[in-house]
Amino acid sequence: MKKEKILIIGANGQIGSVLTDVLKLQYGSDHVIPSDIRVPEKKDQLFERLDVLDKNQLATLVNKHNITQIYHLAAILSAKGELHPQWAWDVNMNSLFNVLELAKEKSIQLFFPSSIAVFGKEAPKNQTPQYAPLTPTTVYGISKVAGENWCQYYHDKYGVDVRSIRYPGIIGYQSLPGGGTTDYAVEIYHAAVKGEAYTSFLSENTTLPMIYMDDAIKATIAIMEAPQEQIKIRTSYNLSGMSFSPIEIAQSIQQHYPDFKVSYAPDFREAIAQSWPSSIDDSAARADWGWKASVDLNMMTSDMIKNLKMKYLSTVSA
Ligand SMILES: NC(=O)c1ccc[n+]([C@@H]2O[C@H](COP(=O)([O-])OP(=O)(O)OC[C@H]3O[C@@H](n4cnc5c(N)ncnc54)[C@H](O)[C@@H]3O)[C@@H](O)[C@H]2O)c1
Repeated sequence: MKKEKILIIGANGQIGSVLTDVLKLQYGSDHVIPSDIRVPEKKDQLFERLDVLDKNQLATLVNKHNITQIYHLAAILSAKGELHPQWAWDVNMNSLFNVLELAKEKSIQLFFPSSIAVFGKEAPKNQTPQYAPLTPTTVYGISKVAGENWCQYYHDKYGVDVRSIRYPGIIGYQSLPGGGTTDYAVEIYHAAVKGEAYTSFLSENTTLPMIYMDDAIKATIAIMEAPQEQIKIRTSYNLSGMSFSPIEIAQSIQQHYPDFKVSYAPDFREAIAQSWPSSIDDSAARADWGWKASVDLNMMTSDMIKNLKMKYLSTVSA
């Protein structure tokens, strides 16, 4: 087992809950401290309730567990952020400052997740390059652009070893999404497996970059474990998995459930999606630290359906 002592902030969320389990397998259960402002139903023995906006509480926790690495996943996501812009800015920025300051003082290695939401209408929509203009339309995107730049600042000025990925929309069977614009791509599988029809809040041809949870976790751990000299970008790396629209995911699901019905009722999230890229050029991540996605749409559909069926079956029989 590896020696790091890892704090996960936002461990009760869509990514954090899965990342916690994978890191525990790789580093040993007693090397991973999950924390969140919300206490999960099934609490890990080492779970710590933490409001990351409370600097003192964060420092106490880091000292108590001799933390050497932090995955800072807590944030207010794109759709929720548009409903409460000032709160989203406050949480997303002040949490990052607290974590960056501590990383500086204690030489802690830090992971900061950015997003495709950093791009706006001025960026090329297809194969959006690493250094496209960053003119986001959401408070969430603005906070991620600012966050990326602060990460670079702390790296350049104070030598903080902070690493970051611009995640596409993440899809997994293990957990539910927390208020983003790509949530439909998880909800649609749950509806199909439960035998229900689904109404998409994005229109049928809105194509977005997405990634399967397994690939997202693989990328997250790979960038953290890469040798320092391979990390040449200290804002955030573009990352690509796959790209599809609601109608394409529906068709992929209909290969398993031919009677599955999908209708389209775009809401305010459609405008957010329209401002984002359709596909991402991740050649820098490939060249610098060997990134390569391995799951495509149909592979993901088979795996999601297989696992959700088991999940619902065990809930019914429990
Ligand atoms: N899920 C995606 O598709 C996606 C895509 C791009 C980027 N990201 C980024 O990845 C990170 C994790 O995303 P997620 O989907 O798991 O989000 P999520 O909303 O599912 O989870 C975030 C977690 O943070 C916790 N949290 C919120 N405020 C907190 C606070 N003050 N103190 C401690 N914990 C707090 C929440 O309780 C929640 O469990 C975020 O930074 C998000 O911006 C996610």
